[in-house]
Amino acid sequence: MDKRDFAERQRYLININTISTQQLFTDTVIIGAGIAGLRAAIEAASNRNVIVLCKGSLRDSNTWLAQGGIASVLCKEDSFESHIEDTLKAGCGICDEKVVSLVVQQAPELIQQLLEWGINFDMESGDIATTLEGGHCHPRIAHAHGDETGRVIAQGLINKVKENPKIKIFQNFYTLDLLTGEDGSECLGIIGFDKRGLQIIWAANTILAAGGTGRLYRETTNPEVATADGLAMGYRAGAVLADMEFMQFHPTTLYIAGASRALITETLRGEGAKLLDDTGYQFMKDYHQDAELAPRDIVSRAILSQMLKNKTTHVYLDVRHFDKQKFTKRFPHIAELCESFDIDVSRELIPVRPSAHYMVGGVKTDQSAKTNIANLYACGEVAATGLHGANRLGSNSLIEGLVFGRIAGSQAAGSSEAASAHISHPAIEFQIPQSDRTRLDTKDITNSLRALMWRNVGIIRKERPLLEAQEIINFWRRYVMDKTFDNQQGWECQNMLTVAGLMAYAAKQRKESRGVHFRSDYPETITNFEKHIEISRPKMEK
Ligand code: SIN
Repeated sequence: MDKRDFAERQRYLININTISTQQLFTDTVIIGAGIAGLRAAIEAASNRNVIVLCKGSLRDSNTWLAQGGIASVLCKEDSFESHIEDTLKAGCGICDEKVVSLVVQQAPELIQQLLEWGINFDMESGDIATTLEGGHCHPRIAHAHGDETGRVIAQGLINKVKENPKIKIFQNFYTLDLLTGEDGSECLGIIGFDKRGLQIIWAANTILAAGGTGRLYRETTNPEVATADGLAMGYRAGAVLADMEFMQFHPTTLYIAGASRALITETLRGEGAKLLDDTGYQFMKDYHQDAELAPRDIVSRAILSQMLKNKTTHVYLDVRHFDKQKFTKRFPHIAELCESFDIDVSRELIPVRPSAHYMVGGVKTDQSAKTNIANLYACGEVAATGLHGANRLGSNSLIEGLVFGRIAGSQAAGSSEAASAHISHPAIEFQIPQSDRTRLDTKDITNSLRALMWRNVGIIRKERPLLEAQEIINFWRRYVMDKTFDNQQGWECQNMLTVAGLMAYAAKQRKESRGVHFRSDYPETITNFEKHIEISRPKMEK
């Protein structure tokens, strides 16, 4: 096999020798500490020891940044049927209906449990207050401390995890790869890196809850940690990935040239904020009957069209008609954010544009959060459970993380081989041949990749730019994937290139438009495409 082929099919990112590496043993190891990972930890620790690995600090997650809320049927005017129907409609014909029912039906009980654990949702007349988001027929979005829902939930779950002596948390731990046995059919734990050096954690069960891919794009709402590591390590281990063409773009991200992007919650539009172009025209009614509350993909494309038409870099959110005091109480985070840029929301408009927000696809699981690899589960944004189909309904992700986090944790706690004493710890040795190709600057490649993905695999796609993206990514891959790095920047660049290639490939394969995937050369939705594009790593010949 030549070196190029090796790089394409590479099983691990680094040279591995399990015998000479520091080793730990546990029953369940969980990669990721967002809502899904934390909820899984609580469940798995009901009778087993658990280690939670967190790439940065416990605050570095998409959960922590989530503003709008968590979707659930919470009042008698609403119904499971309605939440199911809205989710299926958003998913454009390719949701797994059983999964949709399961999540919708378990949601109220799990929200109630959060309340019992001391997580305070905003209340109204003794009940959980709810609001609207695009695509929901009823106000069913619960929120906490106004627009800081994710932070409040994450903090509550972190408190609960910290109280549990069976759970250990390793922060600033970079997980490199999943370890699998000789034939790759069984997951045996992970290899990762922290200030103590390389570490192997052997575990009877491994739960992948490593979050999303937003950082593959120049414009994103996601934190710096969202570099697709979980998807890349799942792919290298042989997990099946599905729906990688479905990247959701959030319509409204604060746009201040030179400043990093920040989410401006959709619930603002749910409560009456208007979208205006640079001439002050409220344009959304020209694009969809539900205007500002149309599904996210439609609002994102409408904003983009309006920007192109008017040759502007952004549009505006108008909240000038809101009562200022009420606004500050209901949206404290956004009020503070705008204030920090000297935007007086009672007099001025908020500049916004769309950006990459949520990876709908991921590691394919069944209803038990099981992947195709034994003892490996996936939940949260890294997983493709079938809930979202081709488009995720706003606020359905936190609830999915809660439901599937519990399922994955309970599977890990209940499996017959849940205790680490039962697993094998084979000697694994893996050597990457030395490369004689030029060493490229991975920081530069990462930045260029993010620009390329935004331009060529963004909100509006087309055959030629997708093909070009694949060609450019493959060129970079040749020079980056054949190297062994000893630092996070290098590993992240390798993971980002791996996943970007898969996303461009899937987007090129789907020659139609569906949900968040819009092809200007194939603008129609085609019945023949009511299927999922699945990808797995070609096996390495011996
Ligand atoms: C938002 O608050 O607009 C984001 C919520 C979500 O993505 O579900």
